[in-house]
Amino acid sequence: MNHISKRKQDHVDLCVNHNMNHKSKTTGLERYEFIHNALPEINYEDISTATFFLQKEIAAPLFISSMTGGFKGATSINQQLAEIAATIKIPLGIGSLRIALHDTSVHDSFTIIKRIVGDTIPLFGNIGAAEIAQKSNHAPLLSILEKCKADAIAIHLNPLQELLQPEGNPQFKGVLFGIESFIKLYQKPVIVKEVGAGISMNVASKLLDIGVSAIDVAGAGGTSWAGVELTRNSDTSYENIFWDWGIPTSECVQMIVPLKKTYAFELYASGGIQSAFDIAMSIALGADSVGMAGSIIKSLINDGNQATLNMIENLIMNIKRIMFLTGSHNIEQLKLAAIKEK
Ligand SMILES: Cc1cc2nc3c(=O)[nH]c(=O)nc-3n(C[C@H](O)[C@H](O)[C@H](O)COP(=O)(O)O)c2cc1C
Repeated sequence: MNHISKRKQDHVDLCVNHNMNHKSKTTGLERYEFIHNALPEINYEDISTATFFLQKEIAAPLFISSMTGGFKGATSINQQLAEIAATIKIPLGIGSLRIALHDTSVHDSFTIIKRIVGDTIPLFGNIGAAEIAQKSNHAPLLSILEKCKADAIAIHLNPLQELLQPEGNPQFKGVLFGIESFIKLYQKPVIVKEVGAGISMNVASKLLDIGVSAIDVAGAGGTSWAGVELTRNSDTSYENIFWDWGIPTSECVQMIVPLKKTYAFELYASGGIQSAFDIAMSIALGADSVGMAGSIIKSLINDGNQATLNMIENLIMNIKRIMFLTGSHNIEQLKLAAIKEK
C-alpha cells in the first residue's frame, strides 16, 4: 500500500475507533434556541424540507461531506455512501482526489460513486488548496473530475492539518491566486471548505472576490484534524492549543451570512453537526445547507448501511418537526425562524 493510501485508511480508522473530536470546543449551536410558535398556521403534512444545492433540487438541506477514496476498503465505503445519498436525495462529496492523480489503480474507488448515483444528486469532487496552488498544469485533475463525472469541486483549505501532519506540506503561499486561476479554467461551480478549523469573514470575502460559488465553513466543534494528525505524529513538541484550534461552526456562519448582501453564493454549515437541531439551527442562522462527515462514517462503519440511512431519514423527519413548531412551510421560511441566545 502506498503512503497516501495508508494515510487515508488511518484517517478513517482513527475517526471511527477513537475520539478525534475537539476536546473543549463546541460548535456553539447549543447556545441558541428556537422561539416556540404556538400559532404555526400550517399543517404538518404541507411542510417541505426540499431545497436547492448549486441549483439542483435536493430532499433536505443536508449533504455528506467529502471523506474518502484511494485505499482497499474505500470502494465499499463510497459505494454505501452513494447508495444512501441517492436513496435520500442529498448531495455527496467525494474524498480528496490527490491520490488518484498519482495512482490509476485507485480510480475505481472514486468513479464507482457516479455509477450508483447517476444524475439523482449533486456530486462534488475534492482536492487540497495547496495542491491547486503548487501545480500549474491542472489537466490531470480536470481529467479525474471528468472521469468521476463530478458536478462541482470542493477545494479544502487545511493549513492546520498540513502543519501538524507528519508528512504534511504547509506551503500556502499563492493559494488564493491558485484557486482563482482554477476557477477560470473549470467550467463548473467551485466550493471552498475548511476541514474543521473554520472560515472567517475575512477569508470568505477574499474567496468571494475571486468568484467561488459556495463556502462550506467546516468549523470547529466536531472532528479535529489537528487531533487526528497529532495522534499520528510522534513529534511531541506541539503545544496543546492546536487540538482545539479553530473557529466554532456557528460563529463562522454568523460572520459570513452578512456577506450575502454583497455576493451571490451558497453558504454551508459543517463541522460537528450531529442532530436535527444542529441542522435546523444552522439554517436559522443563515446557512443554505449543512454537511456531516464524522457522525456519518462512524454510523456507517459501526452500524451499517441501513442504520445510517435510517439515522439520516430520522434527522430529516425531526427537521420537519422543528419546522412545524416554528411555523416554517419550507427551508426559506426556516431561515427566518425566530431564535434567541439562551
Ligand atoms: C474519515 C474522514 C476523511 C476526510 N477526508 C477529507 C478529504 O479527503 N477532503 C476534505 O476536504 N475533507 C475531508 N474530511 C473533513 C470533512 O469533510 C469535514 O470537513 C470535517 O471532518 C468536519 O466535519 P465533521 O465534524 O462532521 O466531521 C474528512 C473527514 C473524515 C471524518
